[in-house]
Amino acid sequence: MGLVIFGASGDLTMRKLIPSLYSLLQAKRVPKSFFVLGVARTEYSDEAFRTYLKEKLQEHLKDEEKDTETVSLFLSHIHYHTMDPAEEKDYNGLKSKLLELDEVYNNPANYIFYLSTPPNLYGIIPKHLSAVNLNAKGNGAGIEENIRRIIIEKPFGYDLESAHELNLIYEEAFTENQLYRIDHYLGKETVQNIMALRFSNGIFEPLWNRRYIDRIEVTAVENLGIEKRGGFYDNVGALRDMVQNHLIQLLALVTMEPPAVFNAKTFRDEVLKVYQSLRPLSPQDIRTNVIRGQYTASKANNERQLKGYREEEKVNPQSRTETYVAIKVAIDNWRWGGVPFYIRTGKQMPTKVTEIVVHFRKTPHSLFGDAPANALIIRIQPNEGVALKFDMKTPGSGFDVQQVSMDFTYNKLGGVPSGDAYSRLLEDCMRGDATLFTRSDAVEASWTYFTPILKAWEQDEKIPLHGYPAGTWGPKMADQIINDGYSWTNPCKNLTDTDLYCEL
Ligand code: BG6
Repeated sequence: MGLVIFGASGDLTMRKLIPSLYSLLQAKRVPKSFFVLGVARTEYSDEAFRTYLKEKLQEHLKDEEKDTETVSLFLSHIHYHTMDPAEEKDYNGLKSKLLELDEVYNNPANYIFYLSTPPNLYGIIPKHLSAVNLNAKGNGAGIEENIRRIIIEKPFGYDLESAHELNLIYEEAFTENQLYRIDHYLGKETVQNIMALRFSNGIFEPLWNRRYIDRIEVTAVENLGIEKRGGFYDNVGALRDMVQNHLIQLLALVTMEPPAVFNAKTFRDEVLKVYQSLRPLSPQDIRTNVIRGQYTASKANNERQLKGYREEEKVNPQSRTETYVAIKVAIDNWRWGGVPFYIRTGKQMPTKVTEIVVHFRKTPHSLFGDAPANALIIRIQPNEGVALKFDMKTPGSGFDVQQVSMDFTYNKLGGVPSGDAYSRLLEDCMRGDATLFTRSDAVEASWTYFTPILKAWEQDEKIPLHGYPAGTWGPKMADQIINDGYSWTNPCKNLTDTDLYCEL
């Protein structure tokens, strides 16, 4: 199996793909014929590329993963081919190089193409691959037997129209079961665990509906700015970078119906149904239920001076790109009618955390004062786990109650789940399991929901872009979208310390 990485000298390849492939090889989870062919315009020989990767591996591997012998073995499976992925004429050279490597590795011309390039190449590469029959679609001579898959990084499209155009290009060159649109959140163990929690326990599902759930929050925030990615991020913004894919995917997992059996089709059918049930946002909803923000310079905790977004490298000093988004979402179906969902993401927040808070309804009658309602917190990262909040009598006279927490953290199972999201997804793709990858129809359904927001922001200058000081929880206005005077749950690094002590 040959893995061809387009954009081989890029940041994602070095930070994520190469270390993940290394750990798969270390765990002996790659096929015998496995090799990697890095492809990019930068000139490298195999040797020079290996030396470069070796350095990067040292940087990105955990100490316990470093092993000189495995590193040498891994590097011996790495090759490099200089070409311009935008040029059709270069693809014959790629094909010849692959045929050479097939001989060496005894590979029956099975390839996975990984697009880790700037998104403007996503529409070009499949066309060029199919021009030299590397897509293996209907070209006789038994070649249909070969494995030809393509992994496409996000963002898949820029809005509904461009995603649709891309889909048409991919449909032309590949069949749906060859397409693996990657969303690394689905590769996270704790994200997959949402399904285990819901569908493997008898006690939650009966309560998992509008009768017992008051509202649900999904938060994915980070305490970093945009680092060195200004050039990319300034054209993208938080809605395209995080919400249209990761956040809506999390929302789908929390709200989907249980599939009859678990496989790529049934699971993705249920995800799609959620996207199709999202209530479209009217222009008025976009003004009142969607809040966008951008971080401004500040001194966090009176310690570090944090830059404002507009001062970041490669960012337009007048940029109106959002680094924060909060949206109140409604799902129009029988299970969720009337339940508000609040999703938000932001850069330069006080901490890095991703979590889902399911707030249950209050008891119909309060015997013991205004006791807090139950909540179930699903912690995706860090301090991965689940906590159930419920009320207990405070010891002593009278009948005061206080909220307590019953929790499970993954380290009670001997540590945070091993293997990172990319290893899991790369292995799934090698095995031909597309369950955890986004299907064409779901991409378009998600863009159908979000594109009106992007259009409104572009066209209506009156929709405010709120500044928020770096290191804070985002624009104050975001509190106003929450019903009934509730406010956002601002999580801490530690799952169970939320109400008592907050270490940021
Ligand atoms: C990526 C976004 O998809 O997800 C980044 O492009 C973001 O901007 C990252 O930082 C967050 O991923 P994680 O796994 O660290 O939560």
